[in-house]
Amino acid sequence: MRVLAIETSCDETSAAVVEDRHRVLSNVVASQVEVHRRYGGVVPELASRCHIEAVDPTVRTALREADCALREMDAVAVTYGPGLVGSLLVGLSFAKALAFSLEKPLVGVNHLEGHIRSAFLEAPDIAFPAVALVVSGGHTALYHLPAEGRYRLLARTRDDAAGEAFDKVAKLVGLGYPGGPVIDRLAPTGDERRFLFPLPRMADGSMDFSFSGLKTAALRFAQSEGLVAGWPGHPEVADQRGAQGSPQGGQSLSEASPPQSPQGGQSLSEASPPQSPPDGEVPPLVRDLCASFQRAAVRLLVERTVRAARQEGVRSVILAGGVACNSRLRADLASACAEAGWTLKVPRPVYCTDNAAMIAAAAFLPLERGESSPLDLNADPVLRLGGPENARRTLRHK
Ligand code: KG4
Ligand code: ZN
Repeated sequence: MRVLAIETSCDETSAAVVEDRHRVLSNVVASQVEVHRRYGGVVPELASRCHIEAVDPTVRTALREADCALREMDAVAVTYGPGLVGSLLVGLSFAKALAFSLEKPLVGVNHLEGHIRSAFLEAPDIAFPAVALVVSGGHTALYHLPAEGRYRLLARTRDDAAGEAFDKVAKLVGLGYPGGPVIDRLAPTGDERRFLFPLPRMADGSMDFSFSGLKTAALRFAQSEGLVAGWPGHPEVADQRGAQGSPQGGQSLSEASPPQSPQGGQSLSEASPPQSPPDGEVPPLVRDLCASFQRAAVRLLVERTVRAARQEGVRSVILAGGVACNSRLRADLASACAEAGWTLKVPRPVYCTDNAAMIAAAAFLPLERGESSPLDLNADPVLRLGGPENARRTLRHK
């Protein structure tokens, strides 16, 4: 069975052709990161417009790379939530039109299930029960997988997603967007014990995550060390200097800093450098902050995952989502799993960040059961996974 999948939930337009659960014939990703970089984050309205322009050529490229014709597809899979509603609607409308004209089943896929199923593309025989940690720019959640296709939510973030925290901390100290990969790269060159980040504990004893405390601590450290938009290589400082002519153009570094918030401190959303500076220009203290923050964030993620895996008596652990690219997280979770005797599966980076191959991978489960989605399926920006409230909206098509 061959599935054409489309993913447009955030800022990547992606299309893939996957055969028989895990043979990826093509997986094309058109990234919008250059469009959003200057704003320091994803701008939803721009994202939808970019998807409209990119979806048709991306699907054509995926078919061409797979050496397949549209009529050779057996089903069309598409992300219908969670995500940005305008972005989701672009992919969903396109997929519905294709499915209708081809007279093939449409399968609406939960983006979070897609991230989890990405692990099965390269390791179809992952043993159950398992726990899956999904960590991305929009989500941070732990699921129990008692058997194939079954998900139970164990914990989720009460505030920011892990990737969002990486991005905000990087932005705060002028490292550009998206910040996760930059922090990952710089952290090994810094002192991870220079700043002591507090690890959150839930008062109710739950396994939920919280990243707002780490983010606030990063802001405090950055302010007290004068790292907020104030160091010589910081892109905004460099920009302002360029406008002034020479580095000695009469403007002090503090004058070149962005405006302060009404409270006198700077809020995380105000620092918005356009580009990352060259790694060689980043001062030691910023490297130390990256290393210390990453150590704390990874400890929190690993500690919760180990607790969940122990509690559920699992055989396997899955790590997925964009933040699963983080080398420290991969290494520390691998050591913890090896010690406990659990098999860890982390997809390769291209299947960790948003992609359509993972959406196809998730679509095979309902398709094999003879289920598909109705053509009036709507986008659901807050779609959940693993709760009773979101029983899959499918119809039998055979
Ligand atoms: O899964 P994804 O592509 O999109 C969402 O569904 O959000 O994840 C993107 C997130 C961004 O926040 C990015 O900074 C983060 O993943 N990320 C990383 C790394 N690579 C990507 N975070 C930490 N370390 C990395 N190496
Ligand atoms: Zn994602």
